[in-house]
Amino acid sequence: MAQKTYPQQDDRLIIHQLADGGDSSALGRDVRNGLTQKPKHLPPKYFYDELGSRLFEAICCLPEYYLTRAESQILRERSTEIATSIANSSPSVRLIELGSGSAEKTRLLIEAFLRRQTELHYLPVDISPASLQTSSRELLRAYPKLRITAYAADYFTALEAFKRERAQHGGSERTVALFLGSNIGNFDPDEAVSFLSAVRELLDSGDAFLLGADLKKSPDVLIPAYDDSLGVTAAFNLNLLVRINRELRSDFKLEEFEHRSCYNEALSRVEMHLVSRIRQTIRIGALDLEVEFEPGESVHTESSYKYDLDKLGEIARRGGFKLSRTWFDAGRRFSFNLLSVD
Ligand code: TRP
Repeated sequence: MAQKTYPQQDDRLIIHQLADGGDSSALGRDVRNGLTQKPKHLPPKYFYDELGSRLFEAICCLPEYYLTRAESQILRERSTEIATSIANSSPSVRLIELGSGSAEKTRLLIEAFLRRQTELHYLPVDISPASLQTSSRELLRAYPKLRITAYAADYFTALEAFKRERAQHGGSERTVALFLGSNIGNFDPDEAVSFLSAVRELLDSGDAFLLGADLKKSPDVLIPAYDDSLGVTAAFNLNLLVRINRELRSDFKLEEFEHRSCYNEALSRVEMHLVSRIRQTIRIGALDLEVEFEPGESVHTESSYKYDLDKLGEIARRGGFKLSRTWFDAGRRFSFNLLSVD
């Protein structure tokens, strides 16, 4: 893949563009694949175009979406303790973050590490180049002692790049990887284990992985978090069709599809769907493809798995880590976990 590295005005910032946002061929392949299978599905990474990333930030402010507030509460109250329990005896750390988004919550950890060390190297990864640009500039303005090397890429592409870069990173710094929010929940448990193993390959003994994970709870709380009364989550989900219309010249009509979220108790996951209200045929110009929908037929766009500590311990262990500590918010809705590398 062609890698572009754009010179930045600030010499503390490097942005590597590994996934070309303007390249619609990967989207085309995934859309053809997902919409010609039964049941139909689409990969969630395509939610995060510029508008999608902003809609997700709006989701994080919704009264029903308790996850962001619960995790922020943990970080506000515990970031010093978290930083101490990782960095304990080591001179300094560098922070890698997968799926950094607006990096709002990350600030609390950046501040905690900057209380322990004079400078910090932060390496965020996000699928949205626009989010990386904006968040990086804001962070550099707020923290004069921060240096940023950012990667616009999907997780697995970025992990490969880190693996290559690792040989050059000889220093005495420890690496702390961050995976905040409920990002881990968007993988099936087996995929989560593969992902953890891929992160583990980047880390050495003494390094650490900080992992947010949403906890199992009543569907009465879960469903509104993924189907809010303002309709922001519905807009976020439907924006996937707007993106496909724009990039692949299709003719999805938004009013003929409905956002639906449900809790799959057996699999402990919230599922997000786009459901066709009518029988219809969609034409996707760029793929020269026609897709038939039955009334009520759904496209599964994302799952958000909910964990308990046993299951978290299990995926950590299978991924090559030890779950060594967990912090909770006051309502015990969300968990923040230290996975250590022996
Ligand atoms: N990582 C988020 C989560 O699982 C993603 C998310 C929140 C999401 N709301 C959504 C994805 C609605 C699709 C639709 O909580």
